[in-house]
Amino acid sequence: MMVVDQLKGRDFLCLSDYTKDEILYLLDLAAKLKEEQKQGILHPHLAGKTLGMIFDKASTRTRVSFEVGMYQLGGMAMFMSGRDLQIGRGEPIPDTARVLSRYLDGIMIRTFSDKMVKELADYASIPIINGLTDMQHPCQVMADFQTIIEHKGRLEGLKLAYVGDGNNMTHSLMIGAAKVGMDVAVASPEGYMPDAGVTEMTRKFAEETGVHVLVTNDPAEAVAGADIVYTDVWASMGQEAEQQERLQKFAGFEVNEALMRKAKPDAIFMHCLPAHRGEEVSAEVIDGPRSVVFDQSENRLHAQKAILVALMK
Ligand code: CP
Ligand code: NVA
Repeated sequence: MMVVDQLKGRDFLCLSDYTKDEILYLLDLAAKLKEEQKQGILHPHLAGKTLGMIFDKASTRTRVSFEVGMYQLGGMAMFMSGRDLQIGRGEPIPDTARVLSRYLDGIMIRTFSDKMVKELADYASIPIINGLTDMQHPCQVMADFQTIIEHKGRLEGLKLAYVGDGNNMTHSLMIGAAKVGMDVAVASPEGYMPDAGVTEMTRKFAEETGVHVLVTNDPAEAVAGADIVYTDVWASMGQEAEQQERLQKFAGFEVNEALMRKAKPDAIFMHCLPAHRGEEVSAEVIDGPRSVVFDQSENRLHAQKAILVALMK
């Protein structure tokens, strides 16, 4: 079967569900859609189609890039706050999934529970896209990979180092990197390491692609020789109450110039944003010449348009 046929109607919940070929196909399509959009070539692949967007957490990039993406593809996107839907009053997920499948052509959801998203996907007859859960953020990683290709010309053979909280970003980056053939090194403080199951899964994918996986408590060890240095907030959405405690636990994990010097001389700095300058990253680094954070933000639009076209056309 051709990759394009394999993708039609699929859910996009976790990069572990996608093969290397499928990920690379989506990245190629993202580059093509970006080029067309820059040249003013319209590409209304999803004319007449509607994407529902359910949000149980805040968002700037995800909401705006999906909404603009659907508009540019000739369709429309509908914002729904989880609080205002009947789910918020206890309507079962299976019923919600079957009802929304009668109106919509796809759903993007940002929420807490991965299990809830899986249940939604199990009962819906339309593609469900994970727009961030407590455990995963796969759309961000597709935009990140598009950005890495633009700056480094390839993915395979590079080393990605992640420094900070072992969170949803870390998990999707680890799985994605191992799948596409990048070495991945993660440094987190004790108690904030990436999920053990995800680490095991990453090692399994890494065996297939022959890449190296390192999980450590030492930022310098992780960053040594890296082509990409990535970080994210120390307290994710839903963990606001732990902010003060985390500030102390993460001391020594700031990505600053001194740490960047341990990476390759041409290493780039990445962050999914929103960022906290002076916590997980110094202003000097995120606002400096190696930072590609706004390219990552822009590529949310293009990478997600590729996902929408592949799944919903
Ligand atoms: N990076 C990201 O997902 O940003 P938002 O929370 O603004 O959507
Ligand atoms: N880890 C962060 C990512 C935000 C895009 C969070 O979940 O809040």
